[in-house]
Amino acid sequence: MGEGKIICKDCAQTDRRGFFKKAFSMVIGGIVTLVPLAAGLTVFLDPLRRKSSAGAFVRVATLDGLPNDSVPRKFPVIANRTDAWNKFDATPIGAVYLRRVAGDKVEALNVVCPHAGCFVDFKGDRGKFLCPCHNSLFAVDGKVADASSPAARGLDTLEVELRNGKEVWVKFQNFRAGHAEKIPAT
Ligand code: FES
Repeated sequence: MGEGKIICKDCAQTDRRGFFKKAFSMVIGGIVTLVPLAAGLTVFLDPLRRKSSAGAFVRVATLDGLPNDSVPRKFPVIANRTDAWNKFDATPIGAVYLRRVAGDKVEALNVVCPHAGCFVDFKGDRGKFLCPCHNSLFAVDGKVADASSPAARGLDTLEVELRNGKEVWVKFQNFRAGHAEKIPAT
């Protein structure tokens, strides 16, 4: 008589039940772990989908506060700022030079030097903008005023809108330094 295999019917059923129980527990465990993880990731990454406010019009001054003499004057740009995860109300986001050139016509220049990002100063005695970092010189309209200036382009002009007859709104935007072209900074 050969050695026969002893088959235990109950044992096989018990093993099968055990297997299904384990598999079921693993699936449930996976769902319990992955659902909160996915929800957390969605919340964490959500701000990256929000639109930036860069390039929006911001109310910067009124015509009353801007003498009609073609002399540039510096104004802070205050706006609500949103970065990837935070919102800041009424925060300085930059500064501009405004110049009232003809009656109600206003020109705006970003104060940031396009060479490497320092803030330029308007020198009233010379009628020009001077960058204190590497001496780039700009004319009152923002163009490079000295061939030896290291800046590759003039000061960045910004769009201006006059609203309600006296409010000066500027489309504020920073641009990347070190380039001859105006490339919006993100
Ligand atoms: S940063 Fe203005 S000249 Fe260099």
